[in-house]
Formats: sequence, structure tokens, C-alpha cells
Amino acid sequence: MSKISLLGTGLNGLIGSKFVSDFEDQYDFDNLDLRNPVRPVDITNEKQVMSVISQSPANFLVHMAAYTDVTGAWQQSGDLNGPCYSVNVKGTENLVKACEATGKHLIYLSTAYVFDGEKTEPYLETDTPNPIEWYGQTKAMAEEIVQKSSLNWTILRIDMPFRNDRFEKIDTLHRVIEGIKSGKLYPQFGDHHFGPTYINDFVKIIDFIIRHNMTGLFHASSGETWTDFEFAKLINETLNLGFNVQEGSLAKYLETNSRPYQKNTALNIDKIKASLDFEQKSIKEAVKETILWD
Ligand SMILES: NC(=O)c1ccc[n+]([C@@H]2O[C@H](COP(=O)([O-])OP(=O)(O)OC[C@H]3O[C@@H](n4cnc5c(N)ncnc54)[C@H](OP(=O)(O)O)[C@@H]3O)[C@@H](O)[C@H]2O)c1
Repeated sequence: MSKISLLGTGLNGLIGSKFVSDFEDQYDFDNLDLRNPVRPVDITNEKQVMSVISQSPANFLVHMAAYTDVTGAWQQSGDLNGPCYSVNVKGTENLVKACEATGKHLIYLSTAYVFDGEKTEPYLETDTPNPIEWYGQTKAMAEEIVQKSSLNWTILRIDMPFRNDRFEKIDTLHRVIEGIKSGKLYPQFGDHHFGPTYINDFVKIIDFIIRHNMTGLFHASSGETWTDFEFAKLINETLNLGFNVQEGSLAKYLETNSRPYQKNTALNIDKIKASLDFEQKSIKEAVKETILWD
């Protein structure tokens, strides 16, 4: 079977590298990446982006590159010259322009942090974004640029992703395991709700979107809601780590910390689930697949 050409950004990242390793037999990946020694591409550089995209035979571009350090982003709040705004907003704008000029379909990876976290139920695609910190604000601005374009576009929102193996950037699952292994896991919030995303399944959703040419806005986490405390207990018990996980409180934490924090970022995934031709694993099943290391 001949491989399908696919443009991507952020393909060396936590999610992107898993997509590449699981689908390298199917796609011929071309990553617009700063680290590429032969042809480095900075997505904030409009000319570089246009030059590479206009020479590519690919019909799709999966855009995963982002400034993802939420605390670092908060320290740049309102800074239109800072790296967070440059990468997340200007970078996306450059990719949108180039995809418009060349007729490519853009798949944009976004986040539940576009919401304010005040809803007590999982968020729907029809809920209005109202980001409360700079990372979420820049991702929401980028979503708007994509949605207002003349492109064929798909936006996939996820929350708290984790994979079954350990990657250089620590994820939601491995943060807990490392905390337990070092004996320094802080009390875990029992009043903070989130919607974990199992990356091993999520990369199959990206492939599904490409194969079925799906356009529109979709929530694409596991669809489950967990608290930090329950999630940490699940990991501890499933992997027999023998730790005594303590419960903490986000409300208490916020009394002394000024960085805004969404109380609930769980996502309702009924819309995408109605189309998928495979079942995603439950979070309990996903945690069982964790590959432990020494
Ligand atoms: N991780 C999460 O908790 C989370 C949650 C919800 C949504 N998301 C979204 O999912 C996507 C992927 O996240 P991730 O955690 O996999 O990201 P990540 O591991 O932080 O990787 C980000 C990638 O962006 C690339 N990048 C940054 N600036 C760039 C620039 N100027 N030009 C070209 N490439 C640049 C980086 O390239 P280098 O490796 O060369 O630096 C890196 O490969 C992002 O859009 C993020 O907003 C993530």
C-alpha cells in the first residue's frame, strides 16, 4: 500500500510523536519543525510556512505545534510579542493562510481550556468558549481564526492527555507515577474535574478524521470525568504502587495562588462517538496498559 502524504506541525511532541510512531506505515509525514536539521521551519515565520506548504503534495495538515506551558503562558498574559501568542495565534494564522492558498484541509488540535471551567457537566461543542487564562485565550483565538477561514477545517478539543509509555515531556498519568515513585505526590484535588484523553486512542481519531474527510468542531477526549484524587488512586491501585494517596482541595489551593485554574474541563464526546468505527478504551482499561519503567 502506498503511503499518504501528510503535513504536520508538532510531530515531535507528546501527542504528535505517538501519532507518527503508530501510523508511520500509513502516512508519509512531513513535519514543519524547528528541530529539523535539513529544513527547519518556525511556524511563526510566514514565508517559511508558505514555502513548505505550497511545495507539498499533501491534502491535509495536522496542526499540533503549540506553546503548551500553561504557567509560562500565564506569565505572558496579554503579551502580543511573547512566544505563547506568537506560536499559538500568529503560527496558526500563517498555517491557515498557507492552507487557504493551497486548498489543504487543516486539522487543528485544541483544548478544553477554551472554557472557563464553571460548568458542572461535561462541556459540549455548542458551549461558548470563555477562557480564563492566556494559554486558553490564545488557543481560543486560534480556533476562531480557523473557523472564520475559507478552509476545510476540523478542530479537535482534548483535555489532560496521557499515553501508555513514558515520553520526555511528562503527562497526566506519568506525573502521578513519578510523584508516587519519589514519595512526593502532593495531595490530589478532589474538587477538580477533568476529562482524561488516552493518546493511544486519540491518534486513531486523527486518522479517522483524515480517512473520512470529516470537518467541524469535535470534542475528542475519553468522554469520562475524573477528579485528580480518584485518578491518582486508580493509578496507584491498578499498578500496585502501594502509596497512600491523600486528598487535597483546589478551592483551598486557589486561596493562596493567583494563577487561574478551571474547576471542570471534562468534555462530552457524544458527537464524535456517533461517527467513530471503533470503541475507545475506558480510562480504567487505558491505565492497565501503562508500561512501567525502573
Ligand atoms: N499536553 C496537553 O496537556 C494538551 C491538552 C490539550 C490540548 N493540547 C494541544 O495538543 C497539541 C499538542 O500538544 P503536546 O502536548 O503534544 O505538545 P508538546 O509536547 O508541548 O509539543 C509542542 C510541539 O510544538 C512545536 N513547536 C513549538 N513552537 C514551534 C514553532 N515556533 N515552530 C514549529 N514548531 C513549534 C514543538 O517543536 P520542538 O519539539 O521542535 O520544540 C513541539 O514539537 C497542542 O496544540 C496543544 O495545545 C495539549
